[in-house]
Amino acid sequence: MNSAEKLAPGAPPPLGFIPLIVPEIRGNEWSYVKECLDTNWVSSVGSYVDRFEKLVAERAGTKYAVATVNGTSALHIALLLAGVERDDEVLVSTLTFIAPANAIRYAGAWPIFIDAEPRYCQMDPERLVDFLERQCLWDGKTLRNRQTGRRVKAILPVHILGHPVDLDPILAVAKKYAMPVIEDATEGLGARYKGKSLGGIGEVGCFSFNGNKIITTGGGGMLVTNNAEWAARAKYLTTQAKDDPVEYVHGAIGYNYRLTNLLAAMGCAQMEQLDNFITAKRQIAQRYGEALATIPGLQLPQEAEWAFSTFWMYTVLVDKTKAGIDSRQWLKHLAEHGIQTRPLWQPLHLSPAHKCGGSMSCPKSETLYRDALSLPCSVGLSQTDLDRVIEVLTKSADQGKTGSR
Ligand SMILES: Cc1ncc(COP(=O)(O)O)c(C=O)c1O
Repeated sequence: MNSAEKLAPGAPPPLGFIPLIVPEIRGNEWSYVKECLDTNWVSSVGSYVDRFEKLVAERAGTKYAVATVNGTSALHIALLLAGVERDDEVLVSTLTFIAPANAIRYAGAWPIFIDAEPRYCQMDPERLVDFLERQCLWDGKTLRNRQTGRRVKAILPVHILGHPVDLDPILAVAKKYAMPVIEDATEGLGARYKGKSLGGIGEVGCFSFNGNKIITTGGGGMLVTNNAEWAARAKYLTTQAKDDPVEYVHGAIGYNYRLTNLLAAMGCAQMEQLDNFITAKRQIAQRYGEALATIPGLQLPQEAEWAFSTFWMYTVLVDKTKAGIDSRQWLKHLAEHGIQTRPLWQPLHLSPAHKCGGSMSCPKSETLYRDALSLPCSVGLSQTDLDRVIEVLTKSADQGKTGSR
């Protein structure tokens, strides 16, 4: 183990260590949080919760937003709003962090994993449409998986890495079969698809404010929608489904998924800086793009012409045959230089946790998983640190060519 791998939680990083991604706290966070502490408004109601919801709804272009304790709980509630029930199936990206698939299981339903396209690493709409058209049966009211006989109830595309999924073909097929689209935009706050903000395009969208996200509340989430009934239901379900707060009468099995005012205060301060954060991320991407373009075997992240990417994560693909080094060797080599990098997630159709889920073959995701490496890209990454990452990468690529690493 090297210094980059050994970091214990809470321990100060070794001198010169460059982390993959860390929060940027440089706005009104302290003063807003202090105000909550000074006024005793620390818990689950308060003006910052309302303000944070308003700010995120505005950004997503939706009428309503409901703050939640994290992004996973927002996804869970979104699935319930979409009418997903026990033993339904939900189509979801296979190349993603595990949370959306877990949320499908929390609702008692089954994920059907869809492969990624290799250009932008997003859910492949062609594969999704192909599955719906060829492997499902439509009786005019309900769509069923021919193989399992289960109802296919919703589509959950996950916008990964700050870049959108190509949504139009998905929206079209969802309309044809009357299926709600739940956008997992947890990695996509501030990104746009054909000019529209992610999260606000499907029936319901979800965000995360986990520590590695483009803005953070330490932990937190948000559900956005234009559907007034769904928004009210989301508020109800996330606050223990309370019908009478004095007599403690509850009309359904609810959840304690509220975000505290304290954390929402931090969220408001972070939202004020979102545009600056996006600019910083895009500048980092540009600098990497210029400096790494000539390294053989390195495919740099692309921005589709229909996309505005935040480059939340800067993920390169390493072709070992051309680079002379594979992604995991590069990870180790960079770690030896105090630089933290990470692969993408194990595609979920391979995950032991989801071995009962259905999937078609997903070969593209498996290749992407093998080749991907995310480079340091914190909003506050200094020019000096960025140059150091570039230097170590460039030198090791040169050595790779001559076999002298
Ligand atoms: C794609 C994706 N979906 C869902 C989540 C879950 O969000 P949270 O950690 O806030 O529960 C995350 C990240 O954490 C994510 O990256």
